[in-house]
Amino acid sequence: MEFLLNKSKAGKSVNVIQELLKLTNSIISQMMLSMRCSGSGNSADGVRTLVREVTEIFGEFNISDIIWFCKNWDLQGFRKRFEDIHRRYDALLERIIRDREEVRKSKKKGRNECDQGENVDEDILTAATDTTAIALEWALAELINHPEVLKIAQEEIDQVVGKSRLVEESDSPRLQYIHAIIKETFRLHPPIPMISRKSAIGRDPKVWADPLEFQPERFLISDEVDNNSGPIDVRGLHYQLLPFGTGRRGCPGASLAMQELPTSLAAMIQCFDWKPAATSKTGDGVDMSERPGLTAPRAKDLECFPVARFTPTLFET
Ligand code: HEM
Repeated sequence: MEFLLNKSKAGKSVNVIQELLKLTNSIISQMMLSMRCSGSGNSADGVRTLVREVTEIFGEFNISDIIWFCKNWDLQGFRKRFEDIHRRYDALLERIIRDREEVRKSKKKGRNECDQGENVDEDILTAATDTTAIALEWALAELINHPEVLKIAQEEIDQVVGKSRLVEESDSPRLQYIHAIIKETFRLHPPIPMISRKSAIGRDPKVWADPLEFQPERFLISDEVDNNSGPIDVRGLHYQLLPFGTGRRGCPGASLAMQELPTSLAAMIQCFDWKPAATSKTGDGVDMSERPGLTAPRAKDLECFPVARFTPTLFET
């Protein structure tokens, strides 16, 4: 928020996804490695770049996977690229582990008895970073394109949080409209569309009224399919909305993501209005094309000018 405030004061634009990736990467890195990745520097930049490369190559079309007699050929150079990514990821994680071991050795014996063994998981770093940032970027893009929805969301925040402090995680249960915005974003833009067993269900007209419209209100009422089952949730019990998959291979990070997303989005729109830069504009709003990959990010990064709307006392100078 402070970074955005400084950009706002300087009248400068931000590449939204780049900053969100720093945030989500920093959260998971701090949880797993006690290491912040919000700035730049070898490890921080390295992790973010590699996460993007992994999710991109995962979704690309590989002829050798489809046509059996091509299976031993690397016609498009995927194997070479994959091996290169894997080698660099491995080297980066090895370096992080080594650094952590050095730090541990240099600390006084006894102080670190609670340290668990090094357990750096490439999958979790990848799964936790891109998905959450992409969901936030899509949510913001939808809000820019739907100012009436943004207005209701900002009113909800002002009502729940008041006008003197920054929104906090503990406010989240009372931000029901923000939760509805997150669900509607998941419905139209599931961050991992290919692994969900029925990838197009979020836009299926048999399941959703006006499926292509962004209408968070649909989540404030009972389940549209079965009116007795209460509001639709995202954790795998309502099969018409499965952003985290379901069952025993469902996403283990769903609860973490559902803690991060509403608070981060709420803070972003509590403190700022977002004016798209010329490069992100089409007509009245922002371009909403996707690009393929394991995750489904926007085709073009969203570039915006944050315009300060409310400055929590915390950041006042
Ligand atoms: C908006 C955020 C996220 C979305 C939309 C998402 C979505 C998904 C989906 C669809 C799957 C596959 C489920 C299946 O195969 O049926 C998955 C798997 C997984 N996710 Fe997430 N995820 C998110 C955030 C996270 C976070 C924050 C973490 C880690 C803290 C995480 C860790 C994982 C892991 C480790 C798997 C593999 C589970 C397995 O194969 O058993 N995800 N996620």
